[in-house]
Amino acid sequence: MYKKILDQLQILTISFEKWTNKVFSQQYNPFYYHGAVPNLFMWTLFVTGLLLFAYYQPTLDSAYISVNYISNKLPFGNIVRGMHRYAADAMMIAVLLHALRVYFTDRYRKYRWIAWYSGVALIGCMLVIGITGYILVWDERSYMIVLMMADALKQIPAIGPPLAEFFVNGEMITHYTLAMSFFLHVGISFLLLYLLWLHYLRISRPVTDVPLGLGLLLMASIIIPAAVIPVSSGKPAVLIQVPAEFPTDWFYLWLFPMFSSMPAMIVWTVLFIITTILLAVPFLIIDEPKSPAQVLLDNCVGCTLCAKDCPYEAIYMVPRTDHPKFKQLAIVIDARCAECGLCVGACAFKAIDLPQKHSKEIIAKIGDVLKEPVGVG
Ligand code: HEM
Ligand code: SF4
Ligand code: SF4
Repeated sequence: MYKKILDQLQILTISFEKWTNKVFSQQYNPFYYHGAVPNLFMWTLFVTGLLLFAYYQPTLDSAYISVNYISNKLPFGNIVRGMHRYAADAMMIAVLLHALRVYFTDRYRKYRWIAWYSGVALIGCMLVIGITGYILVWDERSYMIVLMMADALKQIPAIGPPLAEFFVNGEMITHYTLAMSFFLHVGISFLLLYLLWLHYLRISRPVTDVPLGLGLLLMASIIIPAAVIPVSSGKPAVLIQVPAEFPTDWFYLWLFPMFSSMPAMIVWTVLFIITTILLAVPFLIIDEPKSPAQVLLDNCVGCTLCAKDCPYEAIYMVPRTDHPKFKQLAIVIDARCAECGLCVGACAFKAIDLPQKHSKEIIAKIGDVLKEPVGVG
């Protein structure tokens, strides 16, 4: 039943993407660059963040003033600040669409589970980066975020109180609180890079860049709002005065309306359940037993073509001593093999085979795929 629903979703997604080809053309269709689009916004965040970093001062007295200086006095400062904020929102939208796309097109299971798991971790990191980013402004909203988050963290049994103390960086709000938010904001941004390395680990030739035309369009989609609707701060935080309410950002601060309307433990439990479901998702469908590619020792001449062509890095070459002429032998890592058949096509010596699939079947399947105008995605 679940598999049937997924199959229908896949058909719908592909038809929708074919239809969007009419609008964007196949070459510039953003859905074919579903992983590259968040990547572009991430690098925009790094570059604009670096510029903001040059003028930002993480202390209770200066943070708000330095952010206002960037916005109002620094040439193009409001554009850089706006681009940083809007790129963060755009990245969240792009990441969610990307996750839905890989889910709907059944590209999240089996050998892709590492990409899925690292993706879940990337979303968690993005949330922490977003929340700490809002604290850095040090306006009334920032103050409320620190108070509510510290309170919510304290409710977690056992690890909660030390976690809250770590987050506030002490028992009460001081300059060190902002220093901690700054550290988490920048430090976890770098963690994204490590997670992305994991994310791409099992995808051989991932599409990480958008074409120039699409890139310019996407940049315009954040520069124009930055110029037309400049980002501004709220009232400065005053530690003796707890604000009654604050504006929510639905991309990164959606936890806070939840914290104010229900006990924190319920919110943490809901988050825990959602994360557990997301982590279970790649293993909900059990496929038929695997039959990975097999190398026929006598035929392999060690030409390395199969290892170069395998999109899943499932083949590596080892030195060979049992043959007078051939110096290398191809070895398949069974757990990585996606049974795609590319190596069978690459080998001119009939030295690698998929035992459960007939080569005619594979060639017919490749022919079908080539007939479909599905683009790079
Ligand atoms: C910082 C955020 C992210 C970036 C920059 C990113 C980037 C990418 C890129 C460039 C690819 C290769 C796409 C291709 O070659 O067609 C990819 C693949 C993939 N991503 Fe992400 N991703 C992010 C977040 C996520 C999230 C949140 C999930 C899901 C929870 C996810 C799941 C996957 C999966 C399963 C694949 C493999 C798809 C395939 O092999 O076709 N990613 N990602
Ligand atoms: S392509 Fe064929 S002959 Fe060449 S290394 Fe691979 S299995 Fe051996
Ligand atoms: S069938 Fe061959 S090319 Fe495809 S994943 Fe397995 S080893 Fe790699």
